[in-house]
Amino acid sequence: MVGTGLGVLVKCVEVTKYFGGLPALKNVTMDVEQGEIRAVIGPNGAGKTTLFNVINGVYRPSSGKVFLDGVDITGKPPHRIFKLGVGRTLQIPRPFKELTVWDNVFAGGLFGESMSRQELMNHATSLLEKVGLLSKASVKAGVLNLQERKKVELARALASKPKVLMVDEYMSGLNPAEIEEAINLFKSLRKEYGLTIIWVEHVISAVASLADRVSVLNQGAKIAEGRPQEVIEDQAVVEAYLGERVVHSSESG
Ligand SMILES: Nc1ncnc2c1ncn2[C@@H]1O[C@H](COP(=O)(O)OP(=O)(O)OP(=O)(O)O)[C@@H](O)[C@H]1O
Ligand SMILES: [Mg+2]
Repeated sequence: MVGTGLGVLVKCVEVTKYFGGLPALKNVTMDVEQGEIRAVIGPNGAGKTTLFNVINGVYRPSSGKVFLDGVDITGKPPHRIFKLGVGRTLQIPRPFKELTVWDNVFAGGLFGESMSRQELMNHATSLLEKVGLLSKASVKAGVLNLQERKKVELARALASKPKVLMVDEYMSGLNPAEIEEAINLFKSLRKEYGLTIIWVEHVISAVASLADRVSVLNQGAKIAEGRPQEVIEDQAVVEAYLGERVVHSSESG
């Protein structure tokens, strides 16, 4: 086990979620430690985004429990869970296009941890500096390219000073240099803010270099968990997910 030694921050216990008669999550148990970067991988439709939606209260699980820092948050409304320190980025970034970059980030902090206006302004500015967008602070978000929109989304999600940040597919659509930059950014965010990150990702090379541990979902069930290298070599993971991707990437490249 790769432990940070700081204790479990997010705990999912036998989480099951049905949509109609179909299970999107089946008895998923997962402990994410304080300060850990945990990747969640698996094929399309595996239940990754649904797991995020159960953790942050968008969906109430059909059964099972979710704990944050030892507190049962199962079924609490999303705004309560957000205030308790769970932030997230969306799979497809949708900044307020007519607002400036700075206003988008500032707005992200308004309903979070109670900060004074001045503190929030300082925090928003330092986040923009951190993600490398300070020079575009007064530009309307609608004119940004994909990498920049992702940075706005990330800074917006961090503006409320979450304890845990859930990131849904940050790397897809970015080029190799942008992926490298994003890996370094996440490393420095963890270091600077002591952030815990749960991160859904399809770019396996990024998972291998950034995640402390990886949980693999397939058809709603957790089929493997461990260090990146162990998981990538796991036969069940190769069969359910990676084999196909390796063949696909060698065919296309
Ligand atoms: N609101 C919903 N209503 C009905 N079915 C849903 C709903 N949300 C998700 N599902 C179903 O639950 C399953 C898991 O979907 P989910 O979006 O969690 O997958 P995912 O692992 O995030 O996939 P991807 O990699 O494509 O983003 C899928 O079969 C999906 O169709
Ligand atoms: Mg998804």
